[in-house]
Amino acid sequence: MSRRRRVYEGKAKILYEGPEPGTLVQHFKDDATAFNNKKHDTIDGKGVLNNRISEYLFTRLNDIGIPTHFVRRLNMREQLIREVEIVPVEVVVRNVAAGSLSTRLGIDEGTPLPRSIIEFCYKSDELNDPLVSEEHITAFGWATPQEIDDMMALALRINDFLTGLFLGIGIRLVDFKIEFGRLYENDMMRIVLADEISPDSCRLWDIKTDDKLDKDRFRRDMGGLMDAYREVARRLGILMENDRPEGSGPVLVK
Ligand code: TMP
Ligand code: ASP
Repeated sequence: MSRRRRVYEGKAKILYEGPEPGTLVQHFKDDATAFNNKKHDTIDGKGVLNNRISEYLFTRLNDIGIPTHFVRRLNMREQLIREVEIVPVEVVVRNVAAGSLSTRLGIDEGTPLPRSIIEFCYKSDELNDPLVSEEHITAFGWATPQEIDDMMALALRINDFLTGLFLGIGIRLVDFKIEFGRLYENDMMRIVLADEISPDSCRLWDIKTDDKLDKDRFRRDMGGLMDAYREVARRLGILMENDRPEGSGPVLVK
């Protein structure tokens, strides 16, 4: 078997050259990091769950017309994606105060925000992904004003859709981080959703108990990360369990 060429290795994923030009294989590792790698651990099976959860969410988003890099899942840990040029800006959407917003502005975690808020961070490990404004993004050429508009419009549609989807399975979508890429086709370029959406990149709280079902369990040393991720997958209807056939759809929580 020939060795695949590794194109990029990040903290939680590896990108390999894909089977055809313009494609890549996105591999989900079991590594968990926080605070820019200061805290690091390996959590058996996390990559498998994130691969499935992200596949499910990207497929649903594709179905409602959100353009994404996702092509199909290949195996337990890998998916085939279209090669894009990643915009070096993380887009964070918040519905409820938590995490760095609560710290920065002194708003209690759990306080509903008056409206959904979009924030941008410059993707730079050395600088700790600092919060930046649209002015920084355009002045330094990280994205054009049109690209910012496209990313914001897509981010709000994604937020509306995912908020409803998670609400239906008894989960509050507190906030999430997404990344976008430039997809070049012939002479055209368009902005598409890239990277992943998983409990690593979202805050997901149980609607009744406020139990955290996301990576804050790792960041805050709460334990039970795998159980929480499994619970998200189970509620989404993508975890084989008892007599529920795989892919039989989301589990409605009454
Ligand atoms: P924050 O409150 O720490 O800024 O995080 C906001 C959201 O973004 C939260 O859902 C976690 C996610 N996130 C990432 O996916 N990667 C990161 O590097 C950071 C800092 C946050
Ligand atoms: N993923 C980031 C890191 O490893 C931070 C985080 O998700 O909290 O540093």
